[in-house]
Amino acid sequence: MLTQIQSRTAAAPEEDALTMLVGCHQRIRHFTQVALRIARMPDAPPAELAEAAEAVLRYYSAALPLHEADENETLYPRLRASAADATALAANDAMLQQHAELDDVLAALLPLWQEVKRNPATIGGLAPRLLQQTLQLEQLWQVHLNLEEEIVFPAMQQHLGAELDAIAAEMRARR
Ligand SMILES: [Fe+2]
Ligand SMILES: [Fe+2]
Repeated sequence: MLTQIQSRTAAAPEEDALTMLVGCHQRIRHFTQVALRIARMPDAPPAELAEAAEAVLRYYSAALPLHEADENETLYPRLRASAADATALAANDAMLQQHAELDDVLAALLPLWQEVKRNPATIGGLAPRLLQQTLQLEQLWQVHLNLEEEIVFPAMQQHLGAELDAIAAEMRARR
């Protein structure tokens, strides 16, 4: 099977902001690995390719934009206005810039996954482009998720303690 776990877009009410953000990162890593398997296994059974492409498409077109909005609209402005140090503020700015780069790569990948979903038996011709773009996506994610997990999220925990409940509530309201 190319897909193994289900996408879970709705967060349980008891989850705090950090748990919700890290949960999104687990799903980003999972669906990026599924996307890599699609690109590396063009001879897999067409039904499995179509199913995997549909799952990746659904995640990247419906769930990821919510996570990006959580970070751009809920986290970024609060951290920017906080007493966080220069390193954290620079990471906060880099987070936004990297979202734009990720969105560019995803804009190229979404139609390719759409095509795999529609015509899984003819993925062969797409495979090189699909693999190149997916590897680029994986590389951007590695840098980006590390930046957030090592600098941005710890800064949120350290400097936005009084706002964590409001942050979580805003994220929940988005879903
Ligand atoms: Fe993130
Ligand atoms: Fe992000």
